[in-house]
Amino acid sequence: MINKCVDNWKTVKVTVEFAMKLFHLIFYCLCQYAIYARNNVIDEIIPSKTLVWGPGLYPDKIVMRARYIFLQLRDQNEKNSSISAGEEVISAQIQGETLTGSPCHIWKQILDRKDGSFIVRYKLYQTCMNLQIVIRVKNEDVPASPLIFAGPVYEEECYCPNEDINDWLEKNQCPLNYSQIQADLQPFFSLDFDAIRKDIIKKFDRPYSVSICHYVVKLNKIYRQCYGQHVGFKTFMDAILLSLARKFVIPDIELFVNLGDWPLVSNTEKTYPIFSWCGSDDSKDIAMPSYDLTESTLENMGRVMLDMLSVQGNTKLPWLAKVEKAFWRGRDSCRERLDLIDIARKHPDLINASITNFFFFKNEIDKYGPRENHTSFFNFFDYKYQLNIDGSVAAYRFPYLLAGDSLVFKQESKYYEFFYKQLRPYEHYIPIKKDLTDLVEKIRWAKQHDNIAYKVSRNGQLFTRDNLMPQNIFCYHAVLFKEWSNRLKSKVVRLAGMEEVPQPESSCKCHRINAMGSKEEL
Ligand SMILES: *[C@@H]1O[C@H](CO)[C@@H](O)[C@H](O)[C@H]1NC(C)=O
Ligand SMILES: *[C@@H]1O[C@H](CO)[C@@H](O)[C@H](O)[C@H]1NC(C)=O
Ligand SMILES: *[C@@H]1O[C@H](CO)[C@@H](O)[C@H](O)[C@H]1NC(C)=O
Ligand SMILES: *[C@@H]1O[C@H](CO)[C@@H](O)[C@H](O)[C@H]1NC(C)=O
Repeated sequence: MINKCVDNWKTVKVTVEFAMKLFHLIFYCLCQYAIYARNNVIDEIIPSKTLVWGPGLYPDKIVMRARYIFLQLRDQNEKNSSISAGEEVISAQIQGETLTGSPCHIWKQILDRKDGSFIVRYKLYQTCMNLQIVIRVKNEDVPASPLIFAGPVYEEECYCPNEDINDWLEKNQCPLNYSQIQADLQPFFSLDFDAIRKDIIKKFDRPYSVSICHYVVKLNKIYRQCYGQHVGFKTFMDAILLSLARKFVIPDIELFVNLGDWPLVSNTEKTYPIFSWCGSDDSKDIAMPSYDLTESTLENMGRVMLDMLSVQGNTKLPWLAKVEKAFWRGRDSCRERLDLIDIARKHPDLINASITNFFFFKNEIDKYGPRENHTSFFNFFDYKYQLNIDGSVAAYRFPYLLAGDSLVFKQESKYYEFFYKQLRPYEHYIPIKKDLTDLVEKIRWAKQHDNIAYKVSRNGQLFTRDNLMPQNIFCYHAVLFKEWSNRLKSKVVRLAGMEEVPQPESSCKCHRINAMGSKEEL
């Protein structure tokens, strides 16, 4: 009996050993193959064929917090390389001198998008002269490299506006118009604020339910007066106006900005011009890029970690290695988010979802809790499918979800941000019903149609690269305010009660403005 046991044990042991050996062998082969494939990729890359583009190539003309350059590696036949050759193949040297001749303080990053393309971005901490940008692939210069700028090259906080907005728009290759702007501004023509200003204030000065700020931009200075109990979000609007005013002279405008979540101007009421971060099918607010996306535009490589560039360089797993499930984390700000938890519990093989904070439905925490710890946004993309489900209004994470390398399922919704109408279902994302009843079926469909799923995920990502990068966000605001100024008939003046919103202190000396503060010949 004992012997038999031992025998069996031995057999088992031998079998296990054999299995382990086989496993090691397979693993070794796979690793070798991966190294071989990657070496192959590296061999095939021809540095001189690299595609290079982005605002970071024109630092003397285009100013932003972090300037960025895209690189697409290619082979001899100018075919895009689609597998990451690893960050080691790229090098970027960016240096310059301060006005006093010491080395410029510059922070740079290389972001590997793991699809054969890279982003090089850099942030200046002061005005730089003789700025030199050298970008190499496999130790060879890419086209355009080296770039040298005599200077001055300014950092984001330098007040140095271009007199001519059209010149700025052209340098930034901004579109001349946007259909969302055309549609939003269509009701307003030759608008006389003197006739409606009092009515607007009367209607929206409801301190407990509305937070609204009245802005005037006059001779490139910003003035405002806010109404409401919670007006902290005015800092986001201040920040974009101040940033634009440093870049070009904003045409004189007067505008009311809604700081709250919900659009304010119902379709069924008189159409007042109110600028909001979120639009909806049953309202007529004028949509601006959300405060979240705008802040990450202004503060990338600054205060914020998550921005439209960082998200592209920090996903970890390639498509085939991602967990084939939908992932979701978020607050309980909408009933459907709780419904999602029910669905996820029924289908743990398809969906991993949890609430990270209970606020609106605290009384249902027993059913839908406990609260789960926060997951880093970058780790969301370990999962192949992402869910975009409304919160109070549109979920402002949508641009970041699209910019990652997973497939996005978007709940149908009356709420939209400024760019939603450019997107098409099944081309950039997979639509799901508002009540989520087709979610499980759609995820199953995606699992069975992996090629299409991958393609749609790529399209979404490419859309963001062409339309939602920092430069695009500046463009949208610039065109919106320019169009707005064209529609105002009333004279724009600083009104009684308005305080000035000052530019931040900066020691930079703008070549367009002399020491007395007046303008020099350009
Ligand atoms: C190669 O990449 C560039 C840059 O992203 C893109 O514009 C181009 O369409 C790509 N070419 C092909 C054949 O996919
Ligand atoms: C928008 O600009 C394009 C050129 O970029 C022009 O063809 C089109 O007519 C313009 N649309 C409107 C509504 O102004
Ligand atoms: C859900 O996701 C979290 C975070 O990635 C993970 O720790 C957890 O194990 C997952 N749950 C299931 C059931 O897979
Ligand atoms: C959540 O995080 C806190 C603090 O880091 C930790 O003490 C706690 O154990 C975590 N809870 C879970 C469920 O992981």
